[in-house]
Amino acid sequence: MSKGPKHFLDINELPLSELKSMLAASSAMKAKQKAHQPVRPLEGKTLAMIFERPSTRTRVSFDVAMRQLGGEPIMLTGAEMQLGRGETIADTARVLSRYVDAIMIRILNHEALLELAANATVPVINGLTRRSHPCQVMADLMTYEEHRGPIEGRTVAWTGDDNNVLASWAHAAERFKFNLNVATPPELAPKKVMRDFIKATNASIVLGTDPEAAVKGADCVVTDTWVSMGDKEGEHRHNVLKPYQVNSKLMSLAKPDALFMHCLPAHRGEEVTDEVIDGPQSVVFDEAENRLHAQKGILAWCFDAVK
Ligand code: CP
Ligand code: NVA
Repeated sequence: MSKGPKHFLDINELPLSELKSMLAASSAMKAKQKAHQPVRPLEGKTLAMIFERPSTRTRVSFDVAMRQLGGEPIMLTGAEMQLGRGETIADTARVLSRYVDAIMIRILNHEALLELAANATVPVINGLTRRSHPCQVMADLMTYEEHRGPIEGRTVAWTGDDNNVLASWAHAAERFKFNLNVATPPELAPKKVMRDFIKATNASIVLGTDPEAAVKGADCVVTDTWVSMGDKEGEHRHNVLKPYQVNSKLMSLAKPDALFMHCLPAHRGEEVTDEVIDGPQSVVFDEAENRLHAQKGILAWCFDAVK
């Protein structure tokens, strides 16, 4: 019996050894690209990219990754497809599987991602849902380890609301065995799914509401926009999140060599001040660059081309 396609849907669904081999492949391909010796393991392969929501990094980095690896990207938006006129996600998966070798999708509805994966006969990659953003956190792990070595045993602090990027950090904390301190306003705290995940896995994740306690002694401080795609804007949301801003005062409570991370796009003056995001501890543009390299490792893994 042939095995099913290798989907990349969430970090906690894959064994640590596979995640590590993706990251190792990413680093190796990054080094080759920088040395002007590009590798092209995806010659003749096509990736369909479906965006139901806006994107700068995910869109451009997947497109460039496919081209640099020798493959071809096809950029699609839900609105341009029959999906926008009610064709089911399952039929879309069946049809695209006859044309392309893999599908990357950004769609808010996580169940729709799962339905696409269940009905596709080619690998499906999660390019962000309301629930998670695993490609981002693979790039973030790569970035942390490039700057500071293995993340195992280190402490990452999250300050802000509960969102998709936090969920993938939590999945990574469980797999890569690092500590995650989370500070959110009580009304924007992680939901039952995260609390159940922590209970079931015994991951070293502490949920709280005090940003100073979360950041104290951390090796890495992470935040994200206060209004994710699909969230309702509003003054109240901004008011409750104000104390969670990463500014110099908050950053000074972390270890002196702590890194600052943000997946971008940033809302300067809201979740982070210019001083921090443009300061010496910030690695936000390395993270953005590593989306390209980390996704090469993910793509190569999906295509069974990790050497
Ligand atoms: N960080 C991230 O996923 O950015 P985009 O929304 O620009 O893809
Ligand atoms: N949490 C953000 C991440 C954007 C890359 C959002 O979902 O909008």
